[in-house]
Amino acid sequence: MYGGGYIQDDDIKQPSNGQEDPRLLAEFEARINAGEKIEPDDWMPAEYRKQLIRMIEQHAHSEIIGALPEGTWITRAPGFKRKMALMAKVQDEIGHAQLLYSAAETLGKPREEMINDLLSGKSKYSNVFNYPTPTWADSCIITWLIDAAAIVNQVINSKGSYGPYCRALERICYEESFHLKLGHDCIVELATGTPAQRKLVQAALERWWKPIIHFFGPPDKTSVHSEKLMRWKVKMASNDDMRNQYLSTYVPKIKELGLVIPDPDLKKDEATGSWTYSDPDWDEFFRVINGDGPCNEERLAVRKWAEDNGKWVRNALQKASDKYVVPLA
Ligand code: COA
Repeated sequence: MYGGGYIQDDDIKQPSNGQEDPRLLAEFEARINAGEKIEPDDWMPAEYRKQLIRMIEQHAHSEIIGALPEGTWITRAPGFKRKMALMAKVQDEIGHAQLLYSAAETLGKPREEMINDLLSGKSKYSNVFNYPTPTWADSCIITWLIDAAAIVNQVINSKGSYGPYCRALERICYEESFHLKLGHDCIVELATGTPAQRKLVQAALERWWKPIIHFFGPPDKTSVHSEKLMRWKVKMASNDDMRNQYLSTYVPKIKELGLVIPDPDLKKDEATGSWTYSDPDWDEFFRVINGDGPCNEERLAVRKWAEDNGKWVRNALQKASDKYVVPLA
């Protein structure tokens, strides 16, 4: 798939002299600028491939790890209907991971390697899923406000340059929109409920606000990958632009419910459309994404348990598919 003259560097083969063929690179960038989609068999710079694998793989890991904090609430959700809806939502998230692993595989990295890199801590996944969900309201905050954040990111990036990733994102966004409605319904029920329910949801919002601000990534001035990813239309907006868009849409909706956002300095500059907020402690963000958050160890241990205990299913499926392969004449 990678063509000749390449050397192995980590997961991706780089041009041996570190330079791409200038003619191919110019043609590639012209296609991107013309709004064309790049497909798996098309020529692409090694760095584009590498960045896409990193980003799509992290996204896929976020979906399977993201199923865990809400998954623990399936048996404890209030009532049969809430249990059913949450179960379906969590199953959707696993389906998203499948779509995204398939999209990343089109770039040449096998799924098993991606899973190994998740379990060894080599690959990252979203900061938000390393926080606990001590109450039902925490689970509802994820369903509403984290899924809303994912939608902002994914709708924007679904207009990007890599065909398989964009198509996966489009499909994912349809399902996420349902999750958003479910989450909003759950939060409205709590926020318009008894004083105890209102207290529960307010406390959960206070726990989640900082991780939500972190969700869109570090401020633009410290983002390492944004410039390259935006030039190649993998990312279609910067971290700060996405965060601003999210705040503009969801701050009014949160306030409408009488909930108080735990940041007295949060305000919008109407002239520029950009938001200012208190220092959200970016050191905490980097600690969490590098493995030292409140739940990192637990999340990876559960994932490893699932991987080990699901091995027999994968083996059985593999044996069945080997058995029924029709030999070519
Ligand atoms: N959680 C975990 N890690 C994050 C993060 C987050 N919320 N935001 C940024 N990071 C990591 C980046 O992966 C990068 O680490 P790396 O170099 O070791 O890979 C580092 O922080 C610097 O960030 P930045 O240079 O801004 O990364 P980026 O340009 O890739 O932008 C995202 C970060 C999350 C906005 C981008 O990768 C993205 O849009 N990803 C797809 C969507 C997704 O993964 N959603 C997950 C939840 S559904």
